[in-house]
Amino acid sequence: MKEPFTPPYVGAAYYPELWPESEQSKDIARMRELGCNVMRVGEFAWAYMEPEEGRYEFSWLHGVIDRLTDAGIATVLCTPTAAPPVWLTEKHPETVAAAAEGQPYVHGSRRHNCPNSPVYREYSRAITTRLAGEFAEKKGVIVWHLDNEFGCHINSCYCGVCRDAFHRFLEGLYGNIEALNERWGTGVWSQRYQRFEQIPLPQKTPYTHHPSLVHRYRHFMSHSFAEFAREQAGIIRAKSPLPVTTNGMPPWHKLDYEEMFADLDIVSNDLYNGPEHLWTLAGEFDWMRAKKPRPYWLMETSATWGGSLTPGAVYVHHPGAMRAKCWLSFAMGGEAVLYWLWRAQWSGQEMEHGSLLYSWGEPALARLELKDLVTDLKACADFLNDTKPAPAQVAVHFSYPSMWVFDEGPLAAGFNYMNGWNEFYRQILDRNIHRDVIFPGADVASYNVVFSPFMAIIPGEVIERMKAFVEAGGTWVIGPMSGFRTEDATARRESGFGPLEDVIGSSVRHRFPPPPMGANLDWGKSGRSACRLWCDAYRSTAETKVLARYADGPAAGAPAVLERALGKGRVITLGTLPDHAELSRIIEEACWETTGLPAEMDPPAGIIVIPRVHMDGTPAGHIFIDIAGKGGEVVGVTGVDKLTAESVGGTLKLKPWGVAVVV
Ligand code: GLA
Repeated sequence: MKEPFTPPYVGAAYYPELWPESEQSKDIARMRELGCNVMRVGEFAWAYMEPEEGRYEFSWLHGVIDRLTDAGIATVLCTPTAAPPVWLTEKHPETVAAAAEGQPYVHGSRRHNCPNSPVYREYSRAITTRLAGEFAEKKGVIVWHLDNEFGCHINSCYCGVCRDAFHRFLEGLYGNIEALNERWGTGVWSQRYQRFEQIPLPQKTPYTHHPSLVHRYRHFMSHSFAEFAREQAGIIRAKSPLPVTTNGMPPWHKLDYEEMFADLDIVSNDLYNGPEHLWTLAGEFDWMRAKKPRPYWLMETSATWGGSLTPGAVYVHHPGAMRAKCWLSFAMGGEAVLYWLWRAQWSGQEMEHGSLLYSWGEPALARLELKDLVTDLKACADFLNDTKPAPAQVAVHFSYPSMWVFDEGPLAAGFNYMNGWNEFYRQILDRNIHRDVIFPGADVASYNVVFSPFMAIIPGEVIERMKAFVEAGGTWVIGPMSGFRTEDATARRESGFGPLEDVIGSSVRHRFPPPPMGANLDWGKSGRSACRLWCDAYRSTAETKVLARYADGPAAGAPAVLERALGKGRVITLGTLPDHAELSRIIEEACWETTGLPAEMDPPAGIIVIPRVHMDGTPAGHIFIDIAGKGGEVVGVTGVDKLTAESVGGTLKLKPWGVAVVV
């Protein structure tokens, strides 16, 4: 029976197993006082659900869920496989993951299991089956949540089981060892393999490992966790119709979330960015929204500060930042925000992590902001439930395999994919160009403009899809530092960028790091500017228009930024990262008239505007959030702010960290 629970949801991670029932009742009463309507429970409770092998104890959990439900608080119920109990570790030490140096981890923390251990997977299937069977029809449970942050703390394992599984994975990818040798180019340093079984895990070597081996190992471990999630979801779905999710933690665990969430119903993530980095959350919310038709969940975030035994990412000195962060999630397509955690733990590794209640049960510093947020959401629940972010006409590719390539070799000294990608994305965000973030496999037909920055690997099928997109009238902005690696993380042999050059309309003639004295771009009439990170110099061709040439350096005079008409659309190729001003100009020119906002609306950078539409696609209003903490004015805004009931007659004034819902 569907409970009377409706979004928007605000709540927390709750660990009732750590408290006597008397405290649980007090906690639940306080949850109601603070306006929480959802709690997530169970992800670390295996020792309470199965205190001894085969003896299952669920009555305590039934009692907690019943009390929460009676209090009008929905439950997100977790499978507990992130914290295997000691009897399992003791009876089956082979289920424990092994560190790169070879020695196994030990019990006493969490996530110490090998994700590929058949014995661990068997016990996981057993507890998941029992839990799903026990709570399939449980009143009050609204979402199933798998485990906790697959890949958290250790996203790799070097045990014998993983080694054998890695060999099978490679055999599945390449078919035979000759094909692997050929595609990896293992002739270098006589690394050639005679059998898959000879291929080592990327453990200690005198110098670095082969990039293709490291790349495919990262791919294998990410696939292992996704397979584990798929298996648990299948068990649950056999018993319960409720949606299934798991909490990712982009980008830290470096799992490919395109695969991880492919077969799950809801995208949910844990995001702890501090107030000065709220803009990076926008990039995460943009992919979470674009990935699935259902609203996403911000499954964990800090109410005050993060950390463990030492606080980190502090909010308390930014009154309003926590509310702004939560509004950003709801406005951009989320339906739930849960804090980590409800009540500070009085013992264990995370005693000093910020929480909604102190360990002794009194509300902590965020109580007033939470109260404001709950009040806001009551006033805007219908608006949030009856509208959604407007479809974006612009998209930005995000590629985990490309992130791994730059992890293996940054190409430019000090380059980091996440930082580079975020800075590129920020220039789109600061212009309030309404955008999605998409993974490489996403369909692009609904967009007008697609940016593919730092997409080191552009798979062949993506090149084909993007070529069709351009021919149908789209604008594709490629680069910088895109397309230079194969899916095996090798360079090209037939040309600099292989099949991508057919789309670019030119071929790369020289590639080089910017020389120490720097390299500049000559934009013709608009003067000169610096180039950054890397330089690809192209050939001049009849198909392409040169937007900028290298003004100096080893390829002086060679084209650096090209535009090419193809079909009804165009391709803009960045051979280097232009400076901020020139990149902004390219972005604005590429996105001309597809910003998604009314032309007269001119928000300053730092104020995010999310256009919302009714479910039939008709305009419904805009949500304005200051995520820079400076406040400001937005011209071209008329309507009524649902949060204040005040009318806005042309210019919206926002206080620092201010929020407005103007319809
Ligand atoms: C992660 C984990 C939580 C908790 C928080 C602390 O997101 O999922 O169990 O450890 O970090 O920030």
